[in-house]
This record gives sequence, structure tokens and C-alpha cells, in this order.
Amino acid sequence: MTMTEPALAWDSSLEVGNAVIDRDHKETVELLAALIDAPDTDFPTLFTGFAAHLRAHLANEEALMREYGFPAYAIHRHEHERVRTELEGIERRLAAGNLMLARGYATEIVPDWFLAHKDTMDAATAAWIRQQGG
Ligand SMILES: [Fe+2]
Ligand SMILES: [Fe+2]
Repeated sequence: MTMTEPALAWDSSLEVGNAVIDRDHKETVELLAALIDAPDTDFPTLFTGFAAHLRAHLANEEALMREYGFPAYAIHRHEHERVRTELEGIERRLAAGNLMLARGYATEIVPDWFLAHKDTMDAATAAWIRQQGG
């Protein structure tokens, strides 16, 4: 994502067709937009809120995958683990005062990851749940 592109905004074209996942994804997009727009004084607090949301969002998907026996659970969860590890590293650097790094993560890394992950693993998970009647 370059600085000339508009910020990620929620609309129905982003839905994957599962109510829980789409609710969490809408919140991800809205919290991320607020984080990107935040002044420096508010950024660390909003980052903490975004991180808590993202952890819950990933855990909710993992619970759904277990509930419906998603066959690629291990692959999807492994990617979530990678994101949790990355997030912890950013939180440590932000706590140490590296605001620019955390801003770069929010503006350059998270939006592209979210869209690519949503279109692949999350969409496949939602499709599987629908096939199981969920
Ligand atoms: Fe997701
Ligand atoms: Fe996911």
C-alpha cells in the first residue's frame, strides 16, 4: 500500500459470508482506520486496543475452525501464530518508543496482510462452514 492509496474502508465487498468473521473484519477495518488517523499522543493507546481486538479476532476464527472441523486448521492457525509473533515484536518496539515502526506496521503491513489473508484462508474457512450448514 502506498501513501496515495485511500485507507482501507469497510463495505459489503469485503464480506466473506460468515457473520462472526465479517463482524470481526468490520471492526478490524474500523479500528485500523482510527489508528492510522490518530495523533501521536493517542497512537499507543489505540494500538493497544487494536492489538487486543486482533488477538480476539484470530482466536474467534480458530474456535470456529475447531467447531466445524476445518480441514486446513493447522495451516490457518500457523499463519495466525506468525501474525501474533509479529504483533508482539511491534508492541515491544512501540513500548520502547519506536512510534514510526508501529505506524509503518499499521499503514503498510496490516492492510495488505488483512486483504490477502481474508481472500484466502478466511474466505476458505467461511466457505467450509457454509458447506457444513453453519
Ligand atoms: Fe480474519
Ligand atoms: Fe484468519
